[in-house]
Amino acid sequence: MATSSTLHTRADAIAELQADIKRIARTRNAVILAHNYERPEVQDVADFVGDSLGLSREAAKTDADVIVFCGVHFMAETAVILSPQKTVLLPDLAAGCSLASTIDADDLRRWKAEHPGAVVVAYVNTTAEVKAESDYCCTSGNAVEVVNSIPADQEILFLPDMFLGAHVRRLTGRQNIHVWMGECHVHAGIDPENIRLQRGLHPEAEFLIHPECGCSTSVLEAMSAGDVDPEGVQILSTEGMIKRPAQSPADEFIVATEVGILHRLRRENPSKRFFAANERASCAYMKVTTLPKVRDALLHNQYRITVPPAVADRARLAIERMVAIGGGSAGPALSPVADGIDPGE
Ligand code: 13P
Ligand code: SF4
Repeated sequence: MATSSTLHTRADAIAELQADIKRIARTRNAVILAHNYERPEVQDVADFVGDSLGLSREAAKTDADVIVFCGVHFMAETAVILSPQKTVLLPDLAAGCSLASTIDADDLRRWKAEHPGAVVVAYVNTTAEVKAESDYCCTSGNAVEVVNSIPADQEILFLPDMFLGAHVRRLTGRQNIHVWMGECHVHAGIDPENIRLQRGLHPEAEFLIHPECGCSTSVLEAMSAGDVDPEGVQILSTEGMIKRPAQSPADEFIVATEVGILHRLRRENPSKRFFAANERASCAYMKVTTLPKVRDALLHNQYRITVPPAVADRARLAIERMVAIGGGSAGPALSPVADGIDPGE
């Protein structure tokens, strides 16, 4: 059983490792980026913590020579494509993504051949090769805005997440969007039953949902049917979720996404209470990154992520469109989003 002295020792060990990492990062002119789902102690050592869109923007603008990417493989590839002259390190190559694995470049080429002339919108959770076959990238923070920037009569292939695709189709009102039937195993596992249970336990809580969730479609359907009050429901990217409590009068929130996000939500909003929609919604790919691996990444320059220049050049245009469009940028919103449904940051 853990005693207060063993807990103290663990906290000390974490603090020491974090201090080492900061020191080595300074000597290498490295920046540490971490996704909102990373382990708490990894988030706490990062220079910037955010969602896929925010991390891409940081990677694009950093002056650092080295980017240590505490996230998953496709995110590090995106950083390489946006900053090809930098060294991008992924502390553990096992950091994959079940959603990105649902489609490869051959699958996409076959799909495009079935729909000649269609515009391809790829969620950022895709490999560099899939991005190279795509016209636009988007994240959960700007998917609606990206689709709204494409002429209304243009057929669209949206991939790979079926729940985000359904969300985009609903919010844009477009019928000419074909959606790839991929899903993230973590978000698909947050189902309507989890939601019913948590809403019953916390009836006053606002409900924050990531659009990759298996429950998002059913909740939106219930909202359309008038069975769920849209006032208490927010569909948000991970960074949108981080910002929401400060803007909301609610004191309690049910959070339907990967549980790593609870660390920042609780730290940044100490007077509010947060409940996981499903406590078991943990992404093992995000959790493979630990502090010793971050330190070793910096010490041994491992594991360097590269993208063949021909692939990177084709993928860059799609990614640059994603980075430029919406998701909290200044200027008028491009999406006809109803109150209570915010597509992103
Ligand atoms: P965000 O873009 O909202 O950070 O989501 C990334 C992701 O992998 C969700 O599972
Ligand atoms: Fe991929 Fe799902 Fe993990 Fe996000 S939570 S990185 S979509 S497997």
